[in-house]
Amino acid sequence: MSQRLSFYIHIPYCAKRCGYCDFNTYTPSELKSGDLDSLSDPYIDSALKEIEMAAKEVGSAIVPTIFFGGGTPSLLPAAQLARIIDEIRRRFTLEKDIEITIEVNPDSVSKEFLDEIKSAGATRVSMGMQSAVISVLKVLDRTHNPESVGDAVAMARTAGFKHVSVDLIYGSPGETIDDWRRSLEYALALDIDHISAYALIVEKGTKLAAQISRGELTMPPDDQSADKYLLADQLFEAAGFSWYELSNWSKPGGQCRHNIAYWDGSYWWGVGAGAHSYLSGKRWWNVKHPSSYQEKISHGQSPELSHEILTPENLSDEFIMLQIRRREGILHNRLNPSQIHRAEEFLSSGFLDIESWQDMRLVLSRSGRLIADKIVRELVL
Ligand SMILES: C[S@@+](CC[C@H](N)C(=O)[O-])C[C@H]1O[C@@H](n2cnc3c(N)ncnc32)[C@H](O)[C@@H]1O
Ligand code: SF4
Repeated sequence: MSQRLSFYIHIPYCAKRCGYCDFNTYTPSELKSGDLDSLSDPYIDSALKEIEMAAKEVGSAIVPTIFFGGGTPSLLPAAQLARIIDEIRRRFTLEKDIEITIEVNPDSVSKEFLDEIKSAGATRVSMGMQSAVISVLKVLDRTHNPESVGDAVAMARTAGFKHVSVDLIYGSPGETIDDWRRSLEYALALDIDHISAYALIVEKGTKLAAQISRGELTMPPDDQSADKYLLADQLFEAAGFSWYELSNWSKPGGQCRHNIAYWDGSYWWGVGAGAHSYLSGKRWWNVKHPSSYQEKISHGQSPELSHEILTPENLSDEFIMLQIRRREGILHNRLNPSQIHRAEEFLSSGFLDIESWQDMRLVLSRSGRLIADKIVRELVL
């Protein structure tokens, strides 16, 4: 039987960098080019060559999911992204019901783009909404307004996308519980089947981190973050979205299969500048800058910057770290007696789901989800 290999395609361009974001992405001005159309052609050419390298290394494989992430994939002409899908189709076997996700920004997506990328085979749109409150979007330095999210979701549905997701961020400086409730209610009024909700992380070196250290912005207290998570979970569940991972909720059939592939240890190949890959116990990552990436590829070299080989201990720790975040949890037979013993203390404090424990599975309770990191630290000593 052929092995399975998912693809992540990194598109390292954004129109403007949001103040909180430290993803591997570049604006036209940082690249000293005002024109993304002309940048995209050579970048995609290099990505096609990397897909050819993947085919040489892996041989035949069935591709269950492809994810175009960024950066902002919707800034590129859809025809460029279509070239990638065609190349993967040419070199591998696409699974019959393949999931192909495109990340889009609400204000850089058009009806034409969505129609074209849908015709090229995309099945799912994931949109960065973050908040429905103008003052919060301003603090996050986003360029869109709340209405553009509703318009873009409607466009995606009209284009025929069955699966549409929005990303939200909670815990921004100045965001009140009522602001967050407004964002949740706005998201739940959209015609979507998936929501990701992330606590804001203040990444070192970002504009947001500088604003906070200068005292211009203040982060809300930590316990507010827990209240916001619980409010989100309560409203999502009431609206028919079930949690399937700590930060992800979906309607039935709406789970993101690509993300599940990351979490369950499946193999994936990350194509593009700075992309990470995982295959047979080896994890590697590419050179970060699009110019160095293209340079390496143009010399027929692998774009790999560095790699690590995961030991059986690393793999079993990672399994616990990722799997504990999922609703299906961890079967007891994947834990050693000492881990079972330590987990029992969390069970008696109400942080684990009792019924699942009786079914020989470790699954976090709602309150346990709030301290998932602490539980992992206790289990993976
Ligand atoms: C890399 S972005 C790509 C999507 C698209 N460019 C956008 O921003 O709409 C993917 C998601 O990561 C999340 N994200 C990025 N930086 C974050 C941070 N510092 N804290 C929490 N979430 C973050 C945001 O929710 C964002 O929608
Ligand atoms: S648009 Fe998305 S990827 Fe680009 S800077 Fe903003 S959050 Fe980061």
